[in-house]
Amino acid sequence: MNTLILSSSLSENSRSYLLCKAVEQELISKGNKITFFDAKEIPMQPFHREISKEMKALTEKIAKVDNIIIGMGVHCYSINDSLKILLEGCFGKATGKFFGILCAAGGERSYLVTQHLTQICMNEWRMMQLPRIVYATGKDFTENTITSKEVFERIELFSEEFHTIGNKLLA
Ligand SMILES: Cc1cc2nc3c(=O)[nH]c(=O)nc-3n(C[C@H](O)[C@H](O)[C@H](O)COP(=O)(O)O)c2cc1C
Repeated sequence: MNTLILSSSLSENSRSYLLCKAVEQELISKGNKITFFDAKEIPMQPFHREISKEMKALTEKIAKVDNIIIGMGVHCYSINDSLKILLEGCFGKATGKFFGILCAAGGERSYLVTQHLTQICMNEWRMMQLPRIVYATGKDFTENTITSKEVFERIELFSEEFHTIGNKLLA
């Protein structure tokens, strides 16, 4: 299956980026084709402004792939601003696609925030979500590395289920 992974954080030390990269490795090892988009490399314009060629490329790729994984950081108990811009600007052809969420937060109390992204994707584009999220907090990382055994286990489980269900939906 062809999967697009979108890492939506603009942070140079992004933890959700590390989650995206770990899941990318898992899915590649299962034989899937991955296209990785890193928001740090996408010049962004808000809606009602002319979008960049990188945003156009993301829009076109979203139309073509089988499914999508979104990496997000929690900002002010919601999704971050760059992800909102990319959703509004680039997800027009994501209708009906299977998707998954990988989330990095500062603390454990923001775990329900991923549901903001669920609401947007399901209500706006009738996308279908894998009912499992990888949610990690600051204590799961040391410098720029994932160090939590539990998070690694969840990454493996998420990837296995995304691979299995994603392929079944293609059949
Ligand atoms: C502006 C801002 C707001 C934040 N708000 C929250 C929050 O509401 N809840 C939380 O748990 N963490 C919050 N954080 C911490 C981030 O979620 C955390 O740093 C996470 O690693 C961000 O993802 P990233 O590293 O992929 O950018 C906030 C961070 C910033 C910069």
